[in-house]
Amino acid sequence: MKTIDINLGIKSYKIEIDKNLLEKIGEKIKENFSYNKIFIITDENVASFYLERLVKVLEKENFLVSYFIIPPGEKSKNLNMASEIYKKLVEEKITRGDLIITLGGGVVGDLGGFVAATFLRGIDFIQVPTSLLAQIDSSIGGKVAVDLEEGKNLVGSFYQPKAVFIDTELLKTLPLRYFRDGLGEAIKCSCIRDKNLFSLFKNMKDEKEALEKSQNIIEACCMVKKKVVENDEFDKGERMILNFGHTIGHAIEKNYNFETFTHGEAVSIGMCKITEIMENLGISEKGTFEKIKRVLEKFSLPTDCEINREKTLNTIGRDKKNFGKSINLIVLSEIGNGKIMKIDFNDIEKYI
Ligand code: GLY
Repeated sequence: MKTIDINLGIKSYKIEIDKNLLEKIGEKIKENFSYNKIFIITDENVASFYLERLVKVLEKENFLVSYFIIPPGEKSKNLNMASEIYKKLVEEKITRGDLIITLGGGVVGDLGGFVAATFLRGIDFIQVPTSLLAQIDSSIGGKVAVDLEEGKNLVGSFYQPKAVFIDTELLKTLPLRYFRDGLGEAIKCSCIRDKNLFSLFKNMKDEKEALEKSQNIIEACCMVKKKVVENDEFDKGERMILNFGHTIGHAIEKNYNFETFTHGEAVSIGMCKITEIMENLGISEKGTFEKIKRVLEKFSLPTDCEINREKTLNTIGRDKKNFGKSINLIVLSEIGNGKIMKIDFNDIEKYI
């Protein structure tokens, strides 16, 4: 078992990473906190595998447990769903002395965290992430949000959990495409801050080996996230480096109507595109693009797609209202060393 402390003053908390941690969550909460009721937010897919087990381990410690199950997928991450959950919380008479547990991937964590941040002006929550993407990224650092029709994550807050419990065994039921999706973000982490982790990926054979080594991968990524979040909780500086591959990646997701590529797949393409461009401009070390591409291909992640350049530039924000303003692009000087590059919107076409 590995424990990583996220040091944020009175908002500090621990990330615990272990096999079969799910079975110990009840004892851990009993030992460290004094809640009476626990309200679990999860989705239909995760519930079918793990909800009953989690309820059982919590009830064993005499917590009063209730839950809300959302349909899976991004379409649930909205204010209407939050409203449905608030109603259930009121019905269950949940108070500020109680706890919300989010059991699921990024959607459940973001939505459940948003509900926790806003219900009764904020009640405690604990993240139990079940996807690789959530285990290495979205469950850590307190970003909680819902989407609006106008765009993703447009309403939200920074609201830190009280703990993050990562059970690596839960990845065994994750569909392969979503395991790969998480590997895309894990490779991103290695590119910006951890060249040893990149070497681990470089020397790996396939996804099977990645699953066997998931504890190491998750620990390394959580260490990257810890340092970045501790230095810049509110995403005004260093935390932006987590967006490597995301500027072009987001535009791809959007231009393909969020239907063709998962987030990690779009980020994979985004990392390749930006690095190829930066290498040609002499900003990234020669050979960086090829190294990233080879590692991503090993896990069947896409490294290219048809891109409508005009549409992409417009999605990124090349329009009159942004002229004279700037955008932060995340680039690598070499593997393991990501940095923020401020670009004037007038010059964006040179870099995309
Ligand atoms: N997922 C990026 C961040 O937490 O800042």
